[in-house]
Amino acid sequence: TDTTARLDPYLEIAPIDRRIFGGFVEHLGRHIYDGIFEPGHPTADENGFRQDVIDLVRELGVSTIRYPGGNFVSGYRWEDGIGPVDERPRRLDLAWHATETNRIGLHEFQQWLDAVGSDLMLAVNLGTRGTAEALDLLEYANTIVPTAWTERRAANGHPEPFAVKMWCLGNEMDGPWQLGHRNAEDYGKLASRTAKAMRQLDPSIELVACGSSGRTMPTFGSWEREVLQHTFDDVDFISCHAYYQERDGDAQEFLTSGEDMARFIASVVATADHVAAERGSDKRIMISFDEWNVWYLDRWEAQQKQYGADEWPIAPRQLEDSYSALDAVVFGDLMITLLQHADRVRSASLAQLVNVIAPIMTEPGGPTWRQTTFFPFSLTSRLAQGRAVRVPVTAGTVPSARFGDVAAVNAVATIDNDGATLFLVNRSVSDAATVRVDLSPLGAAGLAVVEAHLLHEDDLAAANTLEDTDRVGIRRADARVTDAELTVALPPVSWAAIRLG
Ligand code: AHR
Repeated sequence: TDTTARLDPYLEIAPIDRRIFGGFVEHLGRHIYDGIFEPGHPTADENGFRQDVIDLVRELGVSTIRYPGGNFVSGYRWEDGIGPVDERPRRLDLAWHATETNRIGLHEFQQWLDAVGSDLMLAVNLGTRGTAEALDLLEYANTIVPTAWTERRAANGHPEPFAVKMWCLGNEMDGPWQLGHRNAEDYGKLASRTAKAMRQLDPSIELVACGSSGRTMPTFGSWEREVLQHTFDDVDFISCHAYYQERDGDAQEFLTSGEDMARFIASVVATADHVAAERGSDKRIMISFDEWNVWYLDRWEAQQKQYGADEWPIAPRQLEDSYSALDAVVFGDLMITLLQHADRVRSASLAQLVNVIAPIMTEPGGPTWRQTTFFPFSLTSRLAQGRAVRVPVTAGTVPSARFGDVAAVNAVATIDNDGATLFLVNRSVSDAATVRVDLSPLGAAGLAVVEAHLLHEDDLAAANTLEDTDRVGIRRADARVTDAELTVALPPVSWAAIRLG
């Protein structure tokens, strides 16, 4: 079908906060052990980190990395991960039914972050612990004056502070599965007093309160309202978490996941602004979309290994989803959606990074490879510079049981000093689209296509695997500029990034 669009710099959404290209590393499955850390691997550096993985994480282009969980953090004692390695205690990780060796802790993770060039975002345990332990960690991480904690940090090899800017006040505290799960009032009060105390210690930090762990949670909406009624003055962000999967083989419905994410964001923004209005405040709470991805959660729950009471494996294979071309197109659309909300989504973390629902996979002693979802992330992170701009599209629609008719083509653009990039997705399983984009509002004289990337496979199930690590990649998109008009051909179920300069 013929689709028209317009790239107009006056339709600015907001400057892009680089933190929306964040990631997430949890102590879970083979993420850390036998993932980023494998001392026996041929590419391991002097700290035991796989260099091939470091190279791919750099290529992916991840800004801030949330650590150490996730559900894991709600039972975590951060002190277990500092000090001499051979004196660290082994603990049971109740969230994932595993043994945590604590071989990797804050210092080692910071070493790895230095190697990949990303910033740390720390989550504190508000499940089994509280304000005092959060303060201890903050003092250990960020304080410069000599205290018992900072002297311990220096003795552990890091005299200078870690200077962690962003802090999550717990994880998914609305979820009944969460260790120390609370209702909104109890969590809101705990988060507020912990935030106040943390700011007393370090006023420069930015704080994230837990929003809902999904928009289908029964408490969604009222959770955000109540939590913000308690924490409004104390926090900068409220979190959103969303995972998408194809259900019952319905690819068309799955392809409208971006619409779900957009509605999720709109609801949380409305709720946060409602709390602001009640208080007569102009403060705007931002969104930290600090878990998002495609995740075949239903499949995992159905196949989840039932361990005996005495079975607590170390780094078992868990949540190792293999992503298809279809998954990657949906994923690209989710990135478009995040950019479309760049005015309020100021931070986001792809959950997760290596082996565990991840764009990067590894095999012990063997190769590392890019999953299909690697490509839309790395291209968007590299090409989405400057400010995000709304792109109105007149397109056909695709049917959705949940949302009615949804635009078949979704798009956003970014504009920077050297040019512009257009990100597009064709959500239709049946119809190709030829998109004609009016570039004249850009003062388009001399603009040409400098990069044209297409993610599309006729076989929607095609994936990269250990046996065939390069089955799916990026192709050249059919895109050209004539007379201030960009024409892009989008096959059914495809995602594209077109750089103009
Ligand atoms: O990312 C996997 C898990 O999903 C996280 O540990 C948890 O926060 C969420 O439910």
